[in-house]
Amino acid sequence: MSTARSRGLGRRWVRAVSLAALLSAALPLALPARAVDSPGAATAHQEPDSSKITPAMVDAGRAIFHGKGTCFACHGMQLEGSQVAPTLKVHAWRDAKNGEFPAIFYVVTHGVSGTLMVAFPGDISRAEALDVASYVWSVGHGKAAP
Ligand code: HEC
Repeated sequence: MSTARSRGLGRRWVRAVSLAALLSAALPLALPARAVDSPGAATAHQEPDSSKITPAMVDAGRAIFHGKGTCFACHGMQLEGSQVAPTLKVHAWRDAKNGEFPAIFYVVTHGVSGTLMVAFPGDISRAEALDVASYVWSVGHGKAAP
């Protein structure tokens, strides 16, 4: 004859077993996904590297800055800045720390919350963001004309 206490234990045991069953069903799904993910993730999260900037990237970035990316509307045709946005020439960088390439890319892809600076202005792609960041960085380092 079973007591209330042993029935309680029984229910807990059933719950533990079904949790284990759930976990063992979920694990094989989770593991290959992680294995497939890691090589791609390593590339996707690689730091933008200024030594890998090419003249083609800078030219593409210049066109994006003055076109699709709409950057010129706030930051000026010559990166001189405006009433609404800072210059992107050499200055005391506020968001893109020290004007470093990864920092410029970060601002373009994340925006500055609470300001007019949105992420991916003009709906540019990640590749276009890299190009436009290359352009801004290169102008700031005297390696390209605005
Ligand atoms: C609608 C206006 C607007 C547009 C369009 C815009 N920005 Fe900005 N941007 C701003 C403002 C405003 C800030 C300053 C945010 C703050 O107050 O800290 C800023 C900040 C920045 C900074 C950081 C400056 C610093 O001093 O650290 C970078 C880099 C930048 N923008 C690049 C771009 C690029 C590249 C584009 C185009 C792809 C672009 N922005 C488009 C308004 C704009």
